[in-house]
Amino acid sequence: MRNKIINSDTLWVSWKNDAEQFLKEKKEYGQVIEKYESKWKKNTKMNVKEMRDFCDGCTAYPITKAYGGHYFSPLQAIQIDALLSTLPIAANERSVSLAALIHSASECAASPGHTAQPFQPTKTAKKYSFGAWKQNVFDHAANALKKIGSRHAKKIGRSVVCDAADMAKDLKRGDLVFIDPPYSGVHYSRFYHVLETIARGSCSNVEGVGRYPPPSERPQSDYSLKTKSKEALKTLLKTLSENHVKVILTFPKEKTSNGLSGSVVSSLAKKYFTVEQKTVNGRFSTLGKKHVPAYEVILTMKPFAKK
Ligand SMILES: C[S@@+](CC[C@H](N)C(=O)[O-])C[C@H]1O[C@@H](n2cnc3c(N)ncnc32)[C@H](O)[C@@H]1O
Repeated sequence: MRNKIINSDTLWVSWKNDAEQFLKEKKEYGQVIEKYESKWKKNTKMNVKEMRDFCDGCTAYPITKAYGGHYFSPLQAIQIDALLSTLPIAANERSVSLAALIHSASECAASPGHTAQPFQPTKTAKKYSFGAWKQNVFDHAANALKKIGSRHAKKIGRSVVCDAADMAKDLKRGDLVFIDPPYSGVHYSRFYHVLETIARGSCSNVEGVGRYPPPSERPQSDYSLKTKSKEALKTLLKTLSENHVKVILTFPKEKTSNGLSGSVVSSLAKKYFTVEQKTVNGRFSTLGKKHVPAYEVILTMKPFAKK
């Protein structure tokens, strides 16, 4: 966590130089430029099959091996590998740079919205894959670095990765919780796996059209199971109320694919909190399909006064 701006200009110059130097020394980079970078622009299916096979053989490059010729062009993929391998060492610089790289990959990925499945080089969809493959990973990373580096916390805090139910147990009176719980009946790991691999720096062998890692690397959540989502949310809200925590929760108004809806969530909340409800006309992603206008409820919840 940092409470100061990071000078992204100097950081970028040195990171980019290191990445370019890294690439210069690698024979695979030369092959990518020579064999594929100009060829795929001819847009034949054969080229894509050939480049996928080539990338699959790039075992020393986790992003190229897993996603080259799928979510990313071979060039984009090996550039992401180079930027990953040359991340700055100092903690703050490293985490800002990694965040910028994840941001860049998310903007360049050839997939609709989240990284659930890449576009395929079919007659109708190839314009989307190739449109994304033309994006410059370095430019996107430099822009993201500027944006992220200029923002900082006003007060040093900490971030924790854990199950929401566990975090709720540690909270106390005076804490304010913001919850944006799952509304998809499909586990979110399906949408984030490519970005998670970049965050971790590696993944096990991927398979299928979506290039998914094995199930052990794809977290499952009760909130995304129709049969368990209501009970999971109820337990979470009960714990928060017992710990006298104030909560702000957002949820789509209409019925969602995990079986919940704004009114179901609101009824659950009213069991444990005094609830103020606002409905807003926002936009939310349908995770894969195009963005559609939709209403969302914002619940502001105060725990009942202690008897
Ligand atoms: C609707 S999304 C929130 C999106 C987020 N507000 C954003 O802007 O990226 C729900 C999130 O809850 C996470 N999630 C699912 N089960 C969870 C659990 N048991 N504990 C904590 N987070 C969980 C999912 O991975 C997903 O990122």
